[in-house]
This record gives sequence, C-alpha cells and structure tokens, in this order.
Amino acid sequence: MHREDFPMLKKDIIYFDNGATTLKPQCVIDSVVEYMTNHTSNIHRGDYDAAVITNKLYDNVRNIVSSFVNCDSREVIYTSGATQSLNMVVFGYMKKHLKKGDEVLLNKAEHASNILPWIILSKQIGIVIKYVPLDNNYELTLENIKRCVTFKTKVISLAQITNVIGDVRDVYNIGKFCHENNILFNVDGAQSVPHMRVDFKNCYMDFLSFSGHKMCGPTGVGILVGRYELLEDMDPLCYGGGMNSYFEENGDYELKSIPTRFEAGTTPIAQVIGLGEAIKYLMKIGMDNIHEHEMKLKQYLLDKVKDIPNIIVYNTSSNSGIFAFNIDGVFAQDTSIYLNSYNIYVRAGNHCAKELKDEINIKNTVRVSMYFYNNYNDVDRLVDALRNSKDIFKIVL
Ligand SMILES: Cc1ncc(COP(=O)(O)O)c(C=O)c1O
Repeated sequence: MHREDFPMLKKDIIYFDNGATTLKPQCVIDSVVEYMTNHTSNIHRGDYDAAVITNKLYDNVRNIVSSFVNCDSREVIYTSGATQSLNMVVFGYMKKHLKKGDEVLLNKAEHASNILPWIILSKQIGIVIKYVPLDNNYELTLENIKRCVTFKTKVISLAQITNVIGDVRDVYNIGKFCHENNILFNVDGAQSVPHMRVDFKNCYMDFLSFSGHKMCGPTGVGILVGRYELLEDMDPLCYGGGMNSYFEENGDYELKSIPTRFEAGTTPIAQVIGLGEAIKYLMKIGMDNIHEHEMKLKQYLLDKVKDIPNIIVYNTSSNSGIFAFNIDGVFAQDTSIYLNSYNIYVRAGNHCAKELKDEINIKNTVRVSMYFYNNYNDVDRLVDALRNSKDIFKIVL
C-alpha cells in the first residue's frame, strides 16, 4: 500500500527493518523542509510572523497525538524518543514514589529501554524487579502476570508489542487488572503505536512511550503520554530555558505548567512538526488497515517458509508483522549479510532484548519487520533468497 509515497522505495530495495526505523513518506519530508525553508524560528519565544506560524504548527501536534492515542492534549510531552520517555517515567516519577522492597513486574522479552532504567533504579533505591515467565510461545499472558503479583507489586511495565517475538499484549485486560489492584501500568508503545490502534484512556494506561521515527516520522522526537494527575507529581529530568516561570538569586523558582515543564531548552521543533504530519498520514491510511495488511503478509510468509528446510521460526503465533528466525546452523548476521546481497534489508542480533536469550535459548536472531508499504512481492523475493541459501557462505565469506 502507498509505496509511491516513499522516495526510498524508488530504489530496488526490500525494506524489512521497520522495527528499527521506518521509511519516510514525501509529505513528512516536505513538512520538515517547509519549516526549515520558510519559517525557521524557535518556539514560544518570538513575536514575529515566522515564530507565530511555527508556534501554531508545533502546538497543534499535541492535538494530533491526543486524538491518535486517545488522551488529553495536556498529557502529551515531546521527548527525544521512546528511550527518553521511559527514562522520564522511571527516574522522574517512579524514583519519587517507589521505595525499597516495592516490586516491579517486567518480562525478559522487553527492550533494553524498559529494563535497564529499572535495573539502575533498583540499585539506587532498592526496588525489586520480578520477571513474569513467558508461555510456550514466548508470549506474556495475564494469567502469568497474576501469578507473580503480590501485595508489594506497585508497577507492571511492558511493551504492548515486543520487538523480537512481536506478540501483542492484552493491554486492555492487563490495564484493567492494574487499575483494580492499584498497580501503576507503564506501557512501551514503541512497536505498537506505529502498527495498530492504541487507546491510552480506555486501556487504563498510566504512561505510554513511543518514538516518531518508527512511525514514518523523523528521528530525534518521541512522545510520553502520562495521566495528568501523575504528571503533576513527576519531576523533570532536565532544567533550563522554556520550562520555568521565574527564578531568583535567592533560589526561589517556579516551573511552568504541564507539559511545558518537561520540555527544557530548544526542543526538536522540525521533528515535532514532521511527526504531526506522519500521524495525520497514518490516520488517513487507518491503523486497522495497517495492522490487517501486516497480518496478511506475515501469514503469507509463514505459509511460504513452511516447506523450506532448516528455517527455524521463533514466533509463529504472534499477532504482528514481526518474523524472527534463523537458518539452522548459520549465524544470524551472516544471514543478514547474505540477504543484503539480494537488496533485502533485515536486522540480525539480539535487538536490544538481551535477556530474551534466557527464554528462547539463543542469543541472536534475524528479524523481518513489516510495514504497510511492504507487499507480497517483497515476501516472495525474501522466500526465494532463503530457498537459495545453500550458497550462503559463498556470498558472505
Ligand atoms: C520495544 C521497544 N522499546 C523501546 C525502543 C527504543 O526506541 P528508541 O530507540 O526510538 O528510543 C525500541 C527500539 O527499537 C523498541 O523496539
């Protein structure tokens, strides 16, 4: 779908690394160029025409985000990406509200950005991290979560879609369970918000983090959505211009209201404007259409690789466009270099989910991650290349 919108697809490449970052449509590129060409200015500082236009464009992106993920626009904070958003939750909010012995439930399929900050916090203040076991398909179930909950459980933090197994977590029921049991629900939406309809309010989320560059937007911008009452009690991690009302020699100061309080310094203005354009573009295509298309492609790929011997697939049942595999006996990176010789771009490695090896017993996998602009021809070319892979070492070495 919509391949003609993407300049990169005019080259003869098959782009299957959308979990890492997505291609950019012309309308997003144009919006950034338009800002830089015609009204470059800082935000919330100037009184001249260009600054007024920029303020409008920039501020309006909060409304676009709020209708996209169903939250209040005052709950939308611009960040540099999902990683910064997740760090703000852990060190800006949780550090202030958790205490020694409080338990946080994670699982081993999570990305580094939703584990490492918690490990650091556990060393700083003595919270206890507990890992919810995955089921036989390496997926996370509410039943397993419930088995790990104790009266000390204060937070459940998880990716709505994980970046290697690609299972879609039941955030509605997990969120409802958290809500009913007074547990904070922190959702990493880096892999879900770009690919499916996400509903912050109705899924009882307390925090939701995602990145612009994984959803057709520019790099360097992301979003943290937080429930307003919680944001009121969250500390900024960064102080400086733009976020204060005043400060004095005697140390008196006052911070601006939410969300500006969390956006110190000059923010990624061009990128925010580009992200707004990307969201409008995705909404026009329709998030349900995107998810449905990816599921059809994934099923097509699964059916096709069934009769290729030596392909080990790790996530046959997961409900997203992520396909994690290895060629038996071949190092993942060799497979990825081999596929590059066919102009097929995939990612190999541990994908920043470094604890997943404890569950799937292998460190490195090859990841095919699809988006709406992939098509059946892309899958056919991948499958052909995999069928020919008996020559893999001739090409790689
Ligand atoms: C599940 C998940 N969470 C968080 C991140 C971090 O995103 P970023 O690098 O854009 O901050 C990623 C990136 O791959 C991811 O896949």
